[in-house]
Amino acid sequence: MNLRAVVYLDSASIEPAAQLCVDFDVPCMDGSTLAASKPKSIQRLLEQELGSVANECAFVLGKAGLQLVSFDPNNAVAIAANFHGATTTYRRLKGGGKGQTIAKAVGIRAGVTPRILDATAGLGGDSFVFASLGCEVSMIERVPVVRHLLADGLEQATRYAAVEDAELMNVLQRMQLIEADSLEYLKQLPEEASPDVIYLDPMFPERTKQSLVKKEMRVVHSLVGSDPDADQLLSLAIDKARYRVVVKRPRLAPYLSGVEPNHVLSGKSNRYDLYTKLKIPDDL
Ligand SMILES: C[S@@+](CC[C@H](N)C(=O)[O-])C[C@H]1O[C@@H](n2cnc3c(N)ncnc32)[C@H](O)[C@@H]1O
Repeated sequence: MNLRAVVYLDSASIEPAAQLCVDFDVPCMDGSTLAASKPKSIQRLLEQELGSVANECAFVLGKAGLQLVSFDPNNAVAIAANFHGATTTYRRLKGGGKGQTIAKAVGIRAGVTPRILDATAGLGGDSFVFASLGCEVSMIERVPVVRHLLADGLEQATRYAAVEDAELMNVLQRMQLIEADSLEYLKQLPEEASPDVIYLDPMFPERTKQSLVKKEMRVVHSLVGSDPDADQLLSLAIDKARYRVVVKRPRLAPYLSGVEPNHVLSGKSNRYDLYTKLKIPDDL
């Protein structure tokens, strides 16, 4: 799936849209007269100028921030990284806290908040859970379209939190986005900068179900492919993490790189494979 255009919905978005057009070398289009910014209306607008955009996608920029709209006839959705909407806020405040399997997997417990490197950040959902539970999180995302969505989600949430939610602001301040490929980043990482935990959630080919989250993940999947180099990432991560590496997998998937973990924690649809090196101290 390729990015075909950037559409701005209001005059305040013209300038940032123009910058995106330069960055991605795609045309900039005026969507300010559209009655609705649904995928179908955006697609019609683009097709007047560009011919068919079926199975392609576009950035749409407006008051709600940056969205990626996919024109896949079977999965026409708009996706964004959202850290301050109702669903995310509910999960942050009522979502099971330190008792969640994902939290246990990275070693979060009372008084223990490891520094985490999320080497496959995507739209930042898992990183946000770690930061909400008190961890400092560095996020690396190598695909520019995905990284722009993530950066914009952080920016929108920060703008909201500055006025409405001091606690959310603290969470966001614990999240740092790094523009890199994790393979290159980890190779040059000096020992004294080792993260306590490295978290990996590479794309898995068989994520095809239809729930909203799965629909979003399908769009990301068609943009980034299947992360065929994830095997290399595991061995490098095991080398560089101070205490452990955690790999998120679909519940029944084979181990990443065929390497058996020391511990496995299973959730409802996912499994967390733990490659432990040292016990995480009680006062971390
Ligand atoms: C399944 S998604 C991660 C979803 C994420 N855990 C979340 O909660 O949104 C995998 C992401 O990792 C990124 N990725 C894979 N290998 C990478 C690497 N070596 N460096 C940086 N990003 C990588 C892909 O581009 C993709 O966006």
